[in-house]
Amino acid sequence: MLAEIIDGRAQARLVLEQVAAGASKLPRPPGLAVIIAGDDPASHVYVRSKVRRATEVGFHTEKIQLPEDCGEARILEEVAKLNARDEIDGILVQLPLPKGVNTLRVMAAVDPAKDVDGLHALNAGMLTQGSGELIPCTPSGCMKLIKSVIPDLTGTHSVVIGASNIVGKPMAALLLAEHSTVTLCHIHTRDTQFVCRGADIIVSAVGKPGLVRGDWIKPRAVVIDVGTTRVPDGKGGFKLKGDVEFDEAVKVAGAITPVPGGVGPMTIACLMENTLTAAIARRERAEGAWPVLS
Ligand code: GUN
Repeated sequence: MLAEIIDGRAQARLVLEQVAAGASKLPRPPGLAVIIAGDDPASHVYVRSKVRRATEVGFHTEKIQLPEDCGEARILEEVAKLNARDEIDGILVQLPLPKGVNTLRVMAAVDPAKDVDGLHALNAGMLTQGSGELIPCTPSGCMKLIKSVIPDLTGTHSVVIGASNIVGKPMAALLLAEHSTVTLCHIHTRDTQFVCRGADIIVSAVGKPGLVRGDWIKPRAVVIDVGTTRVPDGKGGFKLKGDVEFDEAVKVAGAITPVPGGVGPMTIACLMENTLTAAIARRERAEGAWPVLS
């Protein structure tokens, strides 16, 4: 029997509908600002999609485009300006940043209340304590997809491949918070295939096309593919390829996300969800509904 294909586009549409409905109830539209520095073609595609979706759900959006050689100080200056503007609820600094720019310093400069990427140390720390509200968008989207096929993760064994700050580590924290036993594999893990063979859930976030083969997967396991590597399509263009060898995996897994059409649309939907969450929380805080955190 072939695996169930988890439809990220359909699930993202539902999230976006809820976000649009929530945004329409606010006295002013949530504001999302995206900073992009440099010319990375994939980053420009992602940012265009984020801005388009944000506009569709009724947000105010701004894109700040900086040159590759703008330098860290200029990025920090733009972040500071956005931090100070009341109509901006969410700030996203598209990664990767140009060479020589310290990503952690830039993340630390974003007001944690506007950190819709969930990458500020305060939000990352709260997530590890199971109390965060602004959760990194890709892991948040993966978790919704996983829960659509396994509503209760208690007692499962999850394997996350890739230990980045943006996906792997927060993904592991989210799974742990749902009472899964988590193994986080990384570049120095001795036998990732062996570890994966015991997993009920595999989340691969490496960016290495075809890394996860059919014989890495336990029969009926849930496989979430975060990889989106641009590879030539043989017609002068390119196509997206995941970390998972889909044609093999679909014959073994119980459920699997496709690339494209799996995690990608959910990442963007969760960014919109975070922006709405930030807008509501900032408004409540301004009204004195709860104590100031940042
Ligand atoms: N680059 C690739 N994915 C992401 C993401 O989720 N957030 C940011 N800021 N940059 C990215």
